[in-house]
Amino acid sequence: MGFIKAADLNELQPGQVKMVAGEGREIALCNVNGTYYAVDNICPHMGAPLCEGDLDGTDIWCPFHGASFDVTNGEVLSPPAYENLTCFPVRVTDSAIEVEI
Ligand code: FES
Repeated sequence: MGFIKAADLNELQPGQVKMVAGEGREIALCNVNGTYYAVDNICPHMGAPLCEGDLDGTDIWCPFHGASFDVTNGEVLSPPAYENLTCFPVRVTDSAIEVEI
């Protein structure tokens, strides 16, 4: 447990998502208009990589069957997924974006 480097500063543009692996987990790091959020990368429906879906504002859309989630709190917004995503703390340092896993 602890913060790991997830991206270089300015690596992700607003609206972009990056998959980050650490501690045996996959996390989707999301840039929402300059604010970073980190949630599970694996869709709870059938395991799609959410980093390959679309990030629209604070909503991320699963690339497989179109479930959506709020990346600010992990809440599921539309089926066919029914479970929320786990959220992870994010901090921005002088040179990097870090996620606590
Ligand atoms: S795998 Fe994500 S909605 Fe089906």
